[in-house]
Amino acid sequence: MSSRQALNSWKKLTELAQQKKSQHMNDLFAQDSERFDKFSIELPKLLLDYSKNLIDSETMTTLFELANECQVLEWREKMFSGEKINKTEDRAVLHTALRRKSSEPLIIDGENVTQSVQVQLEKMEGFVNKVREGKWLGYSGKRIADIVNIGVGGSNLGPQMVTEALKHYSDNCVNVHYVSNVDGAQIVEILRPLDPEKVLFIVSSKTFTTTETMTNARTAINWLTASSFDENAVAKHFVAVTANKENAMGFGIEEDNIFGMWDWVGGRFSLWSAIGLAIALDLGFDKFKELLDGANEMDEHFQNAPLEENMPAIMALLSVWNTTFLGARSQAILPYDQTLHMLAAYLQQAEMESNGKSVSWDGVEIDYATVPSIWGELGINGQHAFYQYLHQSNNVVPADFIGSVESVTPVKGHHATLMSNFFAQTQALMTGVNEVQVRADLKAKGRTQEYIDKVAPHKVHKGNRPTNTILLKRIDPTTLGSLIALYEHKIFVQGIVLQICSFDQWGVELGKGLAATIQDELESDQVSTEHDCSTERLIKYYKQAQQN
Ligand code: F6P
Repeated sequence: MSSRQALNSWKKLTELAQQKKSQHMNDLFAQDSERFDKFSIELPKLLLDYSKNLIDSETMTTLFELANECQVLEWREKMFSGEKINKTEDRAVLHTALRRKSSEPLIIDGENVTQSVQVQLEKMEGFVNKVREGKWLGYSGKRIADIVNIGVGGSNLGPQMVTEALKHYSDNCVNVHYVSNVDGAQIVEILRPLDPEKVLFIVSSKTFTTTETMTNARTAINWLTASSFDENAVAKHFVAVTANKENAMGFGIEEDNIFGMWDWVGGRFSLWSAIGLAIALDLGFDKFKELLDGANEMDEHFQNAPLEENMPAIMALLSVWNTTFLGARSQAILPYDQTLHMLAAYLQQAEMESNGKSVSWDGVEIDYATVPSIWGELGINGQHAFYQYLHQSNNVVPADFIGSVESVTPVKGHHATLMSNFFAQTQALMTGVNEVQVRADLKAKGRTQEYIDKVAPHKVHKGNRPTNTILLKRIDPTTLGSLIALYEHKIFVQGIVLQICSFDQWGVELGKGLAATIQDELESDQVSTEHDCSTERLIKYYKQAQQN
């Protein structure tokens, strides 16, 4: 048994979960007309309604006790103050320092982080302005028209998700493209229409060792140099963002063109650093700063609000409640805002790479469910695809519904249609419809008894499906910054409660190592016999088929 399971609050929550499983949210709402007031939090531009969860005041009080027993507030302070809470890698976790407003020094391993961040922001600003004002010229003297960010995982998902979400705020001074996949189909299609004399590549890689990114970067260099006889072309068309300056320089990137990273910024939390360069180039530096400000607003809320009013903490505790205690295995992210079409993909990495683990930070095997698998899609598209499953399958999938009060691109009639579905779905998932009602409805429509008997069981919706509703005033750099930081801190609290080191990702290493060996085999005549027979035969089949 892990030490978490020995906590009083944990034991009590286990009992409460047994009781709650036989309750229906419809009854909880009928018994308490104040549920919305009790179970919602309003911040200036963001509302969270969590009343449509299988909770009552006792559940929430016990969840807060759990947070206290797990010392969430103490851990929160450790994170903000730069203590090395990434135990397995012996690193601080300070993405919050990237958007901090205070000028107070924050010293980590002798470095004043506040100052280093400021220096980098100034370097970014100077560079962004130079490119956007047409003062940074390509090798043939033309201004930059296209930015191609090459990176994967945290060096891609955050910047690309934000670029997509804030398209409306771009002045199209440059066009931004993202290459993440090592499948050549992506880079070839992206580069095909571009003019090498006007392209600027950003090679984003914290480690500067990621094979996929290095392969794409090499292809980009070849593409550029094939079109140019100028030996300085790479210096004019390539910048890098990395913590591994040496490798970047070895790769041929000019020292001045390298933007630094720090080991205290995890890849999946790095869009606030120079990893966000493509965002700043697209929107202008002021808007990038607004994004940071929005995140900082959420940091301040998270850092100062008591647990009972703390949005990220409450979302984390609800996730633990739904997953670890009530047994949900996945969680849907359902934005009803076109701009957020990459949010689910972004949160998959943020949450699953952080907390998808089964060993506690003490190295002890965990035998309770940790985090759910995260998946999702834009709301309306999902409604016509997998909502059938959400409503009627026998797996309960808790869902976050995220919508905006105002559309950034209002078109008469559209937003009301979109948002009516948004509200209708959380209501339907919660209330469901029982067989008595189904039969009465069919009868009222004049259906025959035979038809009613046949169809009624299929039309029953059990309801009682938990949802959180997040309503933003509108998507803009500030609210988006707050929304992302909300999830970052949710993930942090989840990790603390579940006793997981959220900031490493050893689980991606094994496959990486094997891929390197197999790549050698694919490119030579040898196939190792050390594989299992399935893998060995597949590799042989593939190689043979290539020769036919
Ligand atoms: O997929 C694993 C991972 O290490 C992620 O954590 C990271 O965001 C991504 O690869 C890219 O890493 P890098 O920025 O070092 O290229």
